[in-house]
Amino acid sequence: MSKKRFAIISVLLLVLAISFVSAAGSQDSKVEDKGSLVFYAGLQEDHAAMIAEEFEAVTGIKTEFVRMSSGEILARLKAEKGNMSASVWYGGPVDGIVAADQEGIIEHYISPEAVNIKEGFKEPNGIWTGIYIGYLGFVGNQAILKEKGLEMPTSWADFLKPEYNQEIVVAHPGSSGTAYTMLATIVQMMGEDAAMEYFKKFSPQVRQYTKSGTAPGRMAGLGEATVGITFLHDAIKYKKEGYKDIIISAPVEGTGYEIGGVALLKGGPDQANAKTFIDWVLTKDVQEMGKTVGSFQFLTNKDALPPEEAMSIKDTKLIDYDFQWAGENKKRLVELFSRETSTVAPTK
Ligand code: F6P
Repeated sequence: MSKKRFAIISVLLLVLAISFVSAAGSQDSKVEDKGSLVFYAGLQEDHAAMIAEEFEAVTGIKTEFVRMSSGEILARLKAEKGNMSASVWYGGPVDGIVAADQEGIIEHYISPEAVNIKEGFKEPNGIWTGIYIGYLGFVGNQAILKEKGLEMPTSWADFLKPEYNQEIVVAHPGSSGTAYTMLATIVQMMGEDAAMEYFKKFSPQVRQYTKSGTAPGRMAGLGEATVGITFLHDAIKYKKEGYKDIIISAPVEGTGYEIGGVALLKGGPDQANAKTFIDWVLTKDVQEMGKTVGSFQFLTNKDALPPEEAMSIKDTKLIDYDFQWAGENKKRLVELFSRETSTVAPTK
């Protein structure tokens, strides 16, 4: 072969090779580019992180999240209305989602997977679908209680006793879904006027209002709080993590509970990916993953097994909590609470 012919053939082969590699590359990127998803998470940070990682691994959809308390998510969504950066609200009491729906922020979506969610734990028009259930109760540090000669409170009435003055830590209903569950529980149990009378006496007893509803449990565990109000599954999580002095109780008068929900956000990017995510998180297997990171709520999928750790609280006396009412009245009740108690939600 002449030198010239050899050079021409080499160049041709090189061009062929380059176009083959680049065709394969663009083919690959077609297969790999599944888009992205951002969700706002109202449940524990470690739970949200695990779900984001698993979802990305299973679907190839690049997934990011921001963990916020329920009131913070609501405030962020109101501010972002018309220019949403997230597409899903995942976790946190559904009262907040109902309140967001009142603001026109929720895209109603009935997931095909909703047929597997127990009756009463999904909103019939698709405003929200339940993913877990948590009972509101009390958390204390038994070493500190003993040291101070105090009993663990067992009723809402106990918190007004002089001996608990400045011993109580609870989140603020303006920022926390847990604390809003407390507020809406007391209003549903006592009626609005009596509830506000209660909170006017309760508030001076409180040493600290926290931003997040999970903080009182950790603070009790660390010995930074004597008693607190929280969802009981969070106190169980912290006890299991090694805060051995944690003790829990539930109010004898009855208590409220949360349905933690998932919802599609109106106008959020990646609506198709958001629906895929919602369908996926409602499945039995994904609901059961929560317990691997210490989320011990009861579950809403009819085939999902509740965590063993939740069995000790299964007989808690619950009120007939009205989630739609609680959501519709959230803004008004939070304002009323803040005014009557002269408190504001902490920002840190
Ligand atoms: O993930 C823990 C948890 O207690 C959830 O069960 C609940 O929905 C959420 O935190 C409430 O958080 P916050 O009170 O901070 O809004």
